[in-house]
Amino acid sequence: MPSSEPTDTRAARKSREAREARGSHPVEERQRLDDDGHSLPRPDDVPTVTRAPVDAAEAVRANRGWWDANAADYYDEHGAFLGDAELVWGPEGWRESELGLLGPVAGRDVLEVGAGAAQGSRYVAGLGARVVASDLSGGMLAAARRIDTARDGAVPLVQCDGCALPFADESFDVVFTAYGVLPFVADGGAFFAEAARVLRPGGRLVAAEPHPIRWCFPDVPGHEGLTAVTPYWDRRAYTERDARGALTYAETHPTIESRVAQIVAAGLTLEQLREPRWPPHNPQTWGGWSPLRGEYLPGTIIWVARRPA
Ligand SMILES: C[S@@+](CC[C@H](N)C(=O)[O-])C[C@H]1O[C@@H](n2cnc3c(N)ncnc32)[C@H](O)[C@@H]1O
Repeated sequence: MPSSEPTDTRAARKSREAREARGSHPVEERQRLDDDGHSLPRPDDVPTVTRAPVDAAEAVRANRGWWDANAADYYDEHGAFLGDAELVWGPEGWRESELGLLGPVAGRDVLEVGAGAAQGSRYVAGLGARVVASDLSGGMLAAARRIDTARDGAVPLVQCDGCALPFADESFDVVFTAYGVLPFVADGGAFFAEAARVLRPGGRLVAAEPHPIRWCFPDVPGHEGLTAVTPYWDRRAYTERDARGALTYAETHPTIESRVAQIVAAGLTLEQLREPRWPPHNPQTWGGWSPLRGEYLPGTIIWVARRPA
């Protein structure tokens, strides 16, 4: 059944490609049998891929490990596209300098969540903001520190889960994330509640993530990626488990309806929902995001919300 077929995701696709290069493939949750019907042991480094609900704490643990292990590769692969001091909202390549979603930041307190190597934070610091870059993964923050050292500057870095921010209430004027926390947590509502808590009244939240419609389609850049295989309303997470059954990676996904409900429940006012089109000047494929798919489907959704004054 199509609904039981896990679709690849941006990060998972990368680990699949690495495994394929080694001649091994992820297996779905079914027994592998030899020609005589006897079950075969699963190679240790081949994860079981399935769609299933995930526990919040387990997802945090798994994704911290995955991003720690893949931080250097992520930067090698995408660092040039992202730029070391640019805020790029997604694989379409739209920059904050083009979309202007954050509003004025000079002299304001700004928090980036799921900051990775803190490129976006460096951009807003360059505009005169007092910025803190936070991320779950020490590996990603180490990449941030390496960039800072090379540039002879330093963005303040904090390691934390975006759903448990270690900041006092009403500490920031702007909170933002570009493909950071939201795709990876079991409960996106917990992130919006935390963002609302640390924002000052009147403060703004901008959050970019994969567009929910993407989950219907295989995460491949070509024509195969244009045929829906999974119901839009199937909210089960994409999961990978190792040979011992431990969760090693999880990506979760909302419907638009569920995200709006989370934003409203957090007491935020939704001001904009953006679905940026693929720009003609970006020829670059990033996992399943490509100029071809970008012609037909939105790849990124960006939520702009405000804590009421
Ligand atoms: C696709 S990268 C995006 C990084 C950066 N914003 C960019 O555009 O390159 C996803 C980031 O989210 C972080 N992340 C995953 N789960 C998180 C969580 N629960 N809280 C905060 N950050 C998380 C990862 O460590 C990783 O740095």
